[in-house]
Amino acid sequence: MNPNTTYPIEGTKRVAYLKNIIKNPQIIVGDYTYYDDPDDVHNFEKNVLYLFDFMPDKLKIGKFCQIATGAKFIMNGANHPMNGFSTFPFKAFSKEWSKADLIPVYKGDTTIGHDVWIGNSATIMPGVNIGNGAIIASNSVVTKNVAPYEIVGGNPAKTIRKRFDDDTINFLNEIQWWDWPIEKINKNVHILSSGNLEKIKEL
Ligand SMILES: CC(C)(COP(=O)(O)OP(=O)(O)OC[C@H]1O[C@@H](n2cnc3c(N)ncnc32)[C@H](O)[C@@H]1OP(=O)(O)O)[C@@H](O)C(=O)NCCC(=O)NCCS
Repeated sequence: MNPNTTYPIEGTKRVAYLKNIIKNPQIIVGDYTYYDDPDDVHNFEKNVLYLFDFMPDKLKIGKFCQIATGAKFIMNGANHPMNGFSTFPFKAFSKEWSKADLIPVYKGDTTIGHDVWIGNSATIMPGVNIGNGAIIASNSVVTKNVAPYEIVGGNPAKTIRKRFDDDTINFLNEIQWWDWPIEKINKNVHILSSGNLEKIKEL
């Protein structure tokens, strides 16, 4: 399996390995992370909202993430200043209003770990960090960081459950299977896709 393939599933263009179709340099995506969209897989970039080149923020997505149709990432450019008496962005609209303050709330980069599954139409708010192996339920609005291997859902997204016990989560975070040579991954997909802890510990 070549990560530089744009459409990895034979016979369809609704699924793409994202890194091969992204144009915006503020969006950084790891190998094998895919987006699925039956209308147009290029919609992904349109759903990264308010990502302006005059803002420093980046959307960083790890390897092997699975991103469903309509997932949205709201970036820092979305935030109007909130400390003044008005949130109206006067300065952006007219030179006559150039004395106005325009200090947006800045929450930093949005980072999505490795092997994260983002459900249909989920929304990720600015500056959120999502840990490796997390699952975001469909239609969630994620306003806070999500721990590795945690399942969250709802608006605002809350913990549904942890996928594994803490020792297993620590183990999975330590082995970082997503960085293994592809030959090792190829040879062991049946173990990676199983829940067999003894077997994965032997690798
Ligand atoms: C998050 C998810 C994986 C959970 O699956 P599950 O463990 O089988 O879920 P269950 O139906 O047993 O529900 C477990 C709990 O999560 C809640 N829950 C499930 N989906 C939810 C959602 N989208 N938003 C909020 N809460 C949700 C349930 O209400 C239930 O809550 P309770 O424990 O208080 O009763 C699944 O609901 C989901 O959203 N999958 C994403 C599907 C998708 O968008 N796929 C796109 C194509 S890849």
